[in-house]
Amino acid sequence: MQITETSDKKPKLKSLDTLFIQTYGCAMNVYDSSRMSDLMQEAYGLRIVDTPADADVILMNTCSIRENAENKVYSELGRYKKIKDKRPDLIIGVGGCVGQQEGKRIQERAPFVDIVFGPQTYHRLPDMVKEIRRDRVNLTEIDMPEIEKFDHLPKPKVEGLTGYVTIMEGCDKFCTFCIVPYTRGAEISRPPEDILAECRQLIDAGAKDISLLGQNVNAYHCEDTDGNEVGFAELLHLVGELEGMQRLRFSTSHPMEMTTELCEAFAEIPSLMPYLHLPVQSGSDEILKAMHRGHQREDYFKAIDELRLHTPDIALSSDFIVGFPGETEEDFELTLDLVRKVGYDSAFSFKYSPRPGTPAAKAEDDVPEAIKDERLQRLLALLREQSRERMEQQVGKTTDVLVEGKGKNEGDLTGRTPDFRIVHFKGNPRLIGQTLSIQITEAYNMSLRGELIIED
Ligand code: 5AD
Ligand code: SF4
Repeated sequence: MQITETSDKKPKLKSLDTLFIQTYGCAMNVYDSSRMSDLMQEAYGLRIVDTPADADVILMNTCSIRENAENKVYSELGRYKKIKDKRPDLIIGVGGCVGQQEGKRIQERAPFVDIVFGPQTYHRLPDMVKEIRRDRVNLTEIDMPEIEKFDHLPKPKVEGLTGYVTIMEGCDKFCTFCIVPYTRGAEISRPPEDILAECRQLIDAGAKDISLLGQNVNAYHCEDTDGNEVGFAELLHLVGELEGMQRLRFSTSHPMEMTTELCEAFAEIPSLMPYLHLPVQSGSDEILKAMHRGHQREDYFKAIDELRLHTPDIALSSDFIVGFPGETEEDFELTLDLVRKVGYDSAFSFKYSPRPGTPAAKAEDDVPEAIKDERLQRLLALLREQSRERMEQQVGKTTDVLVEGKGKNEGDLTGRTPDFRIVHFKGNPRLIGQTLSIQITEAYNMSLRGELIIED
């Protein structure tokens, strides 16, 4: 759909040529940004530029999961204002979770912002832009319609070899520290047929590594057109068995919904890669309860045991929060103990910060900053040590590497193992896009080095 401008009585506006998108936050936001870019390219033929100063439209796709999100947005907006002072036709939009949460407040504080939108309304961007150019008004679109957005998006594009497909959005878990249920809304799953069609398009366009996205993908459930209920494990079988599907991943999962079928899926579906991000947040039952996580540490261990029973080499990653209100030294040591027992390949660790509007924010943020810092450092040190050990265990192994591109060093190529480790090796650039057998020769903190095995 090409939108034609109808500004007959107003002074003629410069045509829109370029778009800059600034993305913060999770993989879901990265996916949303790429869909926004597809949408604006299709509607206006916009070209993506790398610097805001070159853009006719600047979109910020924001994240509010952790501290200071709003402040960061306003300080970035200050920079964009300087550009707009010189070029008043510049369109500035603030989307994502801060857009959802702050709504009209953004334009009260920063009146030069033309559009405020939420994660569920970005499909209306072309129309909003049209309206702004016609009527010179500010717009806020943050209602949360039923997942209609997906019906209005153009076909996804593949960048490199990886593709992303949102299968569900929102969260009904209401962990007490988390803003997501308020910004992304209730859990809604997309019909399996739509997901399969989108994966098909991605594969046909050259995607070799596809990730299914959602705040809680394992809460996925939706009826197919025959009225049969499809759950997450079943969806994985359907998607994983699509012809040409090479590598399949998903993120993020919740420990509460790690069903036996899901644990078994890793062993049953050859394209499903042995890597799982399973956030636990804390190893203390008291804290897990206060966080309203809906599971205890034992439940988490059970899920991990069941996964490893079927897929012993599965790589695991997690999210941790230190310094949640009321967290004692004993509670924190239980987190360290859980980490030692599980053994992670990688992890993301955060200091607790109250998010306005969440239940935990009503409690006193009583763990002093210095203690939060100290706990974070101890946790990071342990996780670093574990991850390094697990990297070293790779040396000597032969593994399939999907070659993603050229490496930083002259003559190097870089790719990923099935369990998502980065591998550098010497090779000809024409190998990019292929999956090759590589023998691992050296381990570093964040990556591996290997040698191409030449098959006769
Ligand atoms: N404080 C610190 N970390 C948080 N996260 C979510 N909310 C908060 C908060 N208020 C972390 C959790 C979650 C990850 C995406 O962000 O660990 O899993
Ligand atoms: Fe936030 Fe908890 Fe939902 Fe994850 S499960 S998005 S941490 S409320």
